Amino acid sequence: MRIRMFVPAIEEEEIEAVVRVLRSRWLVHGPEVEAFEKEFAEYIGTKYALAVSNGTVALTLILKALDIGPGDEVLVPDYTFIATATSVLMVGAKPVPVDVEWDTFNISIEDVLNKLSPRVKAIIAVHLFGHPADVKALKEIAEDRGIALIEDAAQAHGAEAYGKKVGSFGIATAFSFYATKNMTTGEGGIVTTDDRRIAERIALLRNHGQVARYVHEILGGNFRMTAIQAAIGRIQLRKLDRLNDARRRNASFLTQLLSNVEGLELPVEKSWAKHVYHLYAVKIRGIDRDCVRECMLRNGIEVGIHYPVPIHRQPLFQKLGYEECCPNAVELSKCELSLPVHPYLTKEDVEFVAQTLKQCIDRCRTQ
Ligand SMILES: Cc1ncc(COP(=O)(O)O)c(C=O)c1O
Repeated sequence: MRIRMFVPAIEEEEIEAVVRVLRSRWLVHGPEVEAFEKEFAEYIGTKYALAVSNGTVALTLILKALDIGPGDEVLVPDYTFIATATSVLMVGAKPVPVDVEWDTFNISIEDVLNKLSPRVKAIIAVHLFGHPADVKALKEIAEDRGIALIEDAAQAHGAEAYGKKVGSFGIATAFSFYATKNMTTGEGGIVTTDDRRIAERIALLRNHGQVARYVHEILGGNFRMTAIQAAIGRIQLRKLDRLNDARRRNASFLTQLLSNVEGLELPVEKSWAKHVYHLYAVKIRGIDRDCVRECMLRNGIEVGIHYPVPIHRQPLFQKLGYEECCPNAVELSKCELSLPVHPYLTKEDVEFVAQTLKQCIDRCRTQ
């Protein structure tokens, strides 16, 4: 493969940081994790940040901390990574799929209003592919109804809405540091919040509900982050803006090279948003998307489909009796294609991606 889809930006600095932690022999929690939490909270602009083992756990612990459970419903976009919806199942509540906006792939405000009911206790706004959901509109709805707005910013470290970083709008936000994300600790996650009660509950939940050594007040588990992960995260956080700038540069070059291709819809950036291009997601219309995908792969360019199956059509949710819904999500799952946009791409790489895509589209158009 000549051009990879994801390349984690791990360099000498991260390697040295890991060695430093290993030499310190302090492997879990402790000063490294505390420093990472402080720096991440400062970056996002929240009072608290709590490091946990991954983004799925971050979402689940937020729901737990909000006492969401059996009998409750949570609105989730139908077009997202499965963890957004399964974290709701994990706490015994019911995820209710909401359709998404065609242009941004993000949760539709109109369909949120359709799906609200007295059972709905929260909305999870996913900032999909690095473009913020309309958190201003969602916050107004949530405040109006007295329900919680939770952000899923697993794909959107450093993205901004209305001049503020995502992760600072909802009652709490989950971030993921999985290997492919805009910043990574291998596996890892963090919760940001301004709410002291939520921060305190998550601090307990992630560490066996322990209030003093071997004294356990509530049911928790082991969802801690290691010092090794935190040390990598601190370096990655320092590089994040630079890495995001490189993604934005690559994205804008792709957009310039791919404009006016018939059958191709390019990503948008709303006037109030700063997109951090975790993925550069295009829509292939009226041409066989899978033919284009295979053609790109044959030419040495890794591309992805995010996501081939919307939430309500996943076998898991079909078994639970979920009915047909969300026409935009269904259609997007058939036409989305993600192109490489990672920070290590050169100008020539981006040109090669764009040129190959045009050729593949032409070839598949005539088939
Ligand atoms: C939108 C979204 N939510 C949640 C997650 C879960 O994060 P993790 O893989 O760290 O558990 C991911 C990433 O994988 C994601 O993309």
